[in-house]
Amino acid sequence: EKYKVVITGRVLPAALAALETQCQVYRWEQPTAPTLADLSGWLKDADGLFVSTNIAVNEQLLAAAPRLKVIAQPAVGYDNIDIAACTSRKIPFGNTPGVLVETTADLAFGLLLTAARRIHEGWDWVRAGKWQPGAQLPYGVDLYGKTLGIVGMGAIGSAVARRGQASGMKVIYNNRTPRADQADLKAEYCTFDQLLSEADFIVVLTPLTPESRGMFGANEFAKMKPTAYFINAARGAVVDTQALYNALQAKQIAYAALDVTDPEPLPADHPLLQLPNILIVPHIGSATTETRNRMALLAAENLLLGVEGKPLVTCVNTEVNYR
Ligand code: GLV
Ligand code: GLV
Repeated sequence: EKYKVVITGRVLPAALAALETQCQVYRWEQPTAPTLADLSGWLKDADGLFVSTNIAVNEQLLAAAPRLKVIAQPAVGYDNIDIAACTSRKIPFGNTPGVLVETTADLAFGLLLTAARRIHEGWDWVRAGKWQPGAQLPYGVDLYGKTLGIVGMGAIGSAVARRGQASGMKVIYNNRTPRADQADLKAEYCTFDQLLSEADFIVVLTPLTPESRGMFGANEFAKMKPTAYFINAARGAVVDTQALYNALQAKQIAYAALDVTDPEPLPADHPLLQLPNILIVPHIGSATTETRNRMALLAAENLLLGVEGKPLVTCVNTEVNYR
């Protein structure tokens, strides 16, 4: 094979097969993420890097991979990738936007609905044999007529907005800039503070950046309604975990539902797991068979184009997506 490709962890069979048609593949097969030292023997003459575990792609790694022509990752988020460092080395980086939008919106809205109606608590209760005459689960809350506040109104946020509207919710949102198509979205732009104080349900979908890291802390939880539901389907580090714990424990807000946590995975003895008013799932926003396959195949396609020196289909640092 003409090209040498390093894969940092698990990869779906269809994507692996696509890569193997044109590349010699070196894949890290241990369950734990590789260190740079683990990969450096392969990286020194690698043409492509397929990032399938959450490792940091930084200056140090790029320096160990002087021949690298492309990096692809089967995810929409890329907070683990130093994009500026890739760009300065003229290495295009490809993520997988688009293909996971509806799937991730289903999960985010599913968390909201499940928490609001206590679906998970009901099932625990039934399974524990507590469904007896006269026994009753605590009531949930309605979605209809409530205000849904979306922080990070990208493609996924817009898809969550549609789901909220179908349930009779009013949608407000905050972004760095208002969207030009907000009339089509039927969603109202508001300031971050306004969203915090007005929303009954807050859904976070903003990418993790230096600006968004820790953007939900003690001050932000203090501005929310005591009846507020807080849903995070973005990245765990957008939230100050201790501040969220404190807010839930003090009933400063009503409930949280999380697809992402900081740290991740969440250790089995983590204090968040002791709270009664929380629902946590293990970062499964895009985890359907169809979507994970689409993501893996798109990432493989980006990688194969990149090693050939052709433009990637979905490139983050478009200024180097030429060759
Ligand atoms: C998952 O979190 C992704 O970024 O695709
Ligand atoms: C996903 O594709 C997004 O941009 O939100």
